[in-house]
Amino acid sequence: MRTVWVTGGAGFIGSHLVRYLVREYPSYRIHTLDALTYAGNLENLADVLPAANHTFHKIDIANASAVQRLWHEAPPDIILNLAAESHVDRSILSPMDFVHTNVLGTITLLEHARQYWQGRSDVLFYQVSTDEVYGSLGEEGFFTEGSAYDPRSPYSASKAAADHFVRAYGHTYGIPYLISNCGNNYGPFQFPEKLIPLTISRLIERKSIPVYGQGQNMRDWIYVEDHVRAIVLLMEKAPRQRTYLIGAQNCRPNIEVVQLLCSLYDEITGEKDSDRLITFVQDRPGHDFRYAICPSPLLHQLGWKPHMSFEEGLRQTIQWYRANGSWLERVRSGAYQEYFQRQYGERLSSLQ
Ligand code: NAD
Ligand code: DAU
Repeated sequence: MRTVWVTGGAGFIGSHLVRYLVREYPSYRIHTLDALTYAGNLENLADVLPAANHTFHKIDIANASAVQRLWHEAPPDIILNLAAESHVDRSILSPMDFVHTNVLGTITLLEHARQYWQGRSDVLFYQVSTDEVYGSLGEEGFFTEGSAYDPRSPYSASKAAADHFVRAYGHTYGIPYLISNCGNNYGPFQFPEKLIPLTISRLIERKSIPVYGQGQNMRDWIYVEDHVRAIVLLMEKAPRQRTYLIGAQNCRPNIEVVQLLCSLYDEITGEKDSDRLITFVQDRPGHDFRYAICPSPLLHQLGWKPHMSFEEGLRQTIQWYRANGSWLERVRSGAYQEYFQRQYGERLSSLQ
């Protein structure tokens, strides 16, 4: 029996991970720690809240006394650290929130691990990180585990800082750790601020779809459940004190992704010419051009491979958002409107 903490478990990726662990590891005790910021939502965990092997705790991971209280109550053998401010555009508007959770929050957890895990080799601090720490690629090439860190947004700088602290604590205090750096996730329960769920929610509302610049920037997309399976495989099988890249080898220009969503939406709903909603708007400051991942060790040493094709994943995601209109309405109420106005108001005087 192992006790697993999943921080950020009420967010997008975290809720899929908690659901997977609760289902596949009935003998593990799963504790979700989440501050329930705008991005965290107990509705995302509705089906696993009553599960006997799962407990939810509303906790800010940067609050040392709250973390300590829970450590005494339910000492973890494994920490899967996903809690974060995760949206690049918000990091450009308010960088300090990113320092609080992504940097101080991670160090607060590491400090507890240092104090309570002394001399233990059967424990694990697993940091869920991003390919954005490696900066931006040109037209060619891939990130590998050996790529140099070169973060260029406040978000990626905060994630890079956290990664460095995890490695430093591993090296200095011997804390067993793993770091995985993944590309762009998509799927059900993603907050409608990121490109794919934002596009789907605008398609549903029949409103303009904002594409930054000329839509030529490229991202490497992975279905969220493929990412979750990779995390659990690494947690169970990977040698410690290592870093792994996670990616589905699915790098595409943004405009291609948005056009594909438009045509799938039309196919599913019978709407016509949804791509007329696409509106090119002022670019993101410092916009990284291209991310592309070579996940060779994960594929060849661990035997992982993605199960979901991009087109089928997008189709299922569109269908999920259409079937969960009340979820979308609730997460878009209140503060979301203020954020949308701040982020897109000036960009989109043309946006209806
Ligand atoms: P998300 O924004 O959907 O969820 C983040 C969760 O963290 C929310 O539930 C929020 O309430 C919680 N949280 C925020 N601050 C907290 C704090 N101080 N204490 C406790 N909980 C707090 O994010 P996501 O997209 O699910 O990403 C999860 C993790 O995966 C992040 O660390 C992110 O950097 C990383 N990641 C995300 C992607 C992606 O494409 N979404 C890709 C690679 C890596
Ligand atoms: O690469 C992994 C990262 O992917 C994660 O670490 C981050 O948590 C996650 O937010 C994501 O970052 P991106 O900035 O790549 O994701 P986003 O969905 O915000 O943007 C994807 C691309 O689409 C990017 O090139 C910017 C562009 N875009 C985004 C928005 C929100 C638009 O053109 N219009 C938009 O309105």
